[in-house]
Amino acid sequence: MGYITSELLEETGYVVLDSYDQPIDPKEWLDIEYVDWKSSGDTRFAPLASAKGEIECNGFWNHKPPRTDKDGVWIDSQTEIAPTLTARAKEPGSNVGRCRVIELQPNTYADALYNLHQDDNNRLNPDGTGWVVRSFFNLTDDKDSFFVLRHNRTDPSGETRIALPAGAQLVIDTQRLWHAAAHFGDEPRYCLITSWESGPELDAYLEKYHARKHVDSVEVPQDVLDAGQAEQSRRIAAREAALRARGQQEKLAMSEA
Ligand SMILES: [Fe+2]
Repeated sequence: MGYITSELLEETGYVVLDSYDQPIDPKEWLDIEYVDWKSSGDTRFAPLASAKGEIECNGFWNHKPPRTDKDGVWIDSQTEIAPTLTARAKEPGSNVGRCRVIELQPNTYADALYNLHQDDNNRLNPDGTGWVVRSFFNLTDDKDSFFVLRHNRTDPSGETRIALPAGAQLVIDTQRLWHAAAHFGDEPRYCLITSWESGPELDAYLEKYHARKHVDSVEVPQDVLDAGQAEQSRRIAAREAALRARGQQEKLAMSEA
């Protein structure tokens, strides 16, 4: 049968919407409650909707009973502090799964490349229903930072780098594209991330805000790109070596037992 998907996301796996141009009080993301949650990079998360309405960020499939990333339960104590963010997440009217604000500490382009990952939003998603994609609404004005998108973690060809000024609104098939943020400066970046179910409501919303399937990549000098790529390779190799060493140690321990 297959999943219901968005035609607009078919070609590139991402769209960039019109920039959000209303003022928001930073208290909406600064005064909500954060939990330490290791994602890609040095991060904390503040959930607005979670599996059971509690302030935690675990995948819905890790709860009992396990379920896919849909039917998130809004957390009143958080949404009361962040009414505009909540309204933005609800605006399409499509089913919302996880909804949270990410706080990301500054990093480097090489860090972003090493952090590239795919999400598993569609784990346990029933066939024939809407594919889960994610919106990224940048809250802080991170003019020099950008989102990195790749079709293959280690292949720089076709990399897209999307600028992250305040108000940037991206919708991405994060299970298809490898993604991570390169965030520069001295202050953390804050971004609202929402899991949305694909379907007619989401399509109408994407059209309303003039979804663009192609944007110009942020310009980065070739030597910086090359150095980042080399560092990604080095770190992946180091990690694999460490895992191999640990595997050998574990085997040794077993044989000694
Ligand atoms: Fe992700």
